[in-house]
Amino acid sequence: MGVFDRFQQKRELYASVRALGADPFAVRIERVLSPTEAIIDGRYTVLAGTNNYLGLTFDPACIEAANEATEAFGTGTTGSRIANGSYSTHQDLERTLADFYGRQHAMVFTTGYQANLGVISTIAGQDDILFLDTDCHASIYDASRLGQATVMRFRHNDPADLDRRLQRLADKPGNRIIVTEGIYSMLGDQAPLAELVAVKRRHGAYLVLDEAHSMGVLGATGRGLAEAVGVESDVDFIVGTFSKSLGAIGGFCVSDAPDFDIMRVVSRPYIFTASLPPAITASVTAALRTVAARPELRTRLWSNVNWLYDGLKHRGFELGPQKSPVVAVHLPDVLLGVQVWKALLEAGIYVNLALPPATPSGTALLRCSVCAVHDRDQLNKIIDTLTDIGYAFGLLSEQKTAAVA
Ligand SMILES: Cc1ncc(COP(=O)(O)O)c(C=O)c1O
Repeated sequence: MGVFDRFQQKRELYASVRALGADPFAVRIERVLSPTEAIIDGRYTVLAGTNNYLGLTFDPACIEAANEATEAFGTGTTGSRIANGSYSTHQDLERTLADFYGRQHAMVFTTGYQANLGVISTIAGQDDILFLDTDCHASIYDASRLGQATVMRFRHNDPADLDRRLQRLADKPGNRIIVTEGIYSMLGDQAPLAELVAVKRRHGAYLVLDEAHSMGVLGATGRGLAEAVGVESDVDFIVGTFSKSLGAIGGFCVSDAPDFDIMRVVSRPYIFTASLPPAITASVTAALRTVAARPELRTRLWSNVNWLYDGLKHRGFELGPQKSPVVAVHLPDVLLGVQVWKALLEAGIYVNLALPPATPSGTALLRCSVCAVHDRDQLNKIIDTLTDIGYAFGLLSEQKTAAVA
C-alpha cells in the first residue's frame, strides 16, 4: 500500500478542481506592489485574500527596522533560544508586547501555530480538561493532540452548552481550560466573550483567548476582543500571531500567570525549533508601536469593512453573520465556488477560496479580507465584479437583490 493511498478522496477532489482550469492552492504571486496590489500570472490584481488588516507589510518604520536588524544581526538566528541564545531583539519585542497588553509576561514563538501548540499543550496536563469551541483553528486542535488533557468540544459560540458540559464534569479532578477565539477566521464572527467569561468564573476555569484575527482590529488600543468587551483581567492567557495585523510572522502569548516563564524550559514547540529572525522581531516591534500610535488605521479598516460588507449584502450575497475584516461569501457548492473564485482572479481580484471540511458552514466560502489601506475604487471593483460574476453563475438574481434592497 502506498503511503499516500489514504488521501485518494482528497486527490479526486483536487483533480476535479483542477479540471475546471483552476488551482486555488498554487497561486503564484510574482510581485507585490503594495499591501493591496500584486502581479499574479502577469496580471495587475487587487489583493483581498490576505490577513494584512492594517496594511503594515510596507510600513516604512517596519521595513527600516527589519533592514537595520538584518545589517546588525544577520539573516537568521540558526537555532532555538534555549540552545543558541536570545537576541536582544527577541527581548525587546517581548517587553514591547507585555507593555502593549499591560501584562507581566510575554513570550514569542516562531509562528502563531506554534504559540497555540506551545501554550495549550503545556498548560493542560494529563489530569486536566480542555473545552474547545467547535470552530477553533486547527492549531488549537493540534495543540490538544500534542498535550495529554481530556478534550471536550462545546457548540460554537454557545456559552450555555459550555456551561452544561462544565457542570457535567464538575466532580472530575483537574483544571478546566476553555479555549476560544476573538474573531473566527472563516466566518468573521466574534466570540460572546462576556458570557463565556461569566461561565468561566462560575466554574473556576482558566480561559485562553486566541486574538489572531482581532488584535489590531478590535479594542480602543487594538488589543483585541477582550479589550473591546472590557474583560481583559478575566482572560488568563492571550495568544496571537504576528502574521495578520502586524504584517510579518510569529506568535506570542501574554499573561499575568505566576511562574509563566517556566514555559521557556518545558514548552516543546518553543524549545525545539529555531527562533524568529532579527528582521522579524524588529519589524514586529515597530508594527506594535505603529498600532499603538495610529488608531486611525483601525478607523479606516472599519470604514472599509462597513463599505464592503454592506455593498455585498445589498447586492444579495449571503455573508457571514457579523461584520469583521473577514467578509465571507457563502457559495452553495464546491465546484461553483471554484468557478467563481477563478472568474474573480481572471478579472484581477484575489480572494481566498475555503472548501469543506475546512469551512464551518460545510459549504464553499469566498473569504475576502479587508485592509485599512484598500481605497474605495478597489472595494467598489470587488463589489461590482463579484456581482457581475454572481449573475453570470446564477448565484444572484433580480429577485434576490430586490429582496434585500
Ligand atoms: C485563529 C488562528 N490562530 C492561529 C493561527 C496560526 O497563525 P500563524 O499562521 O501565524 O501560524 C491562525 C492562522 O490563520 C488562526 O487563524
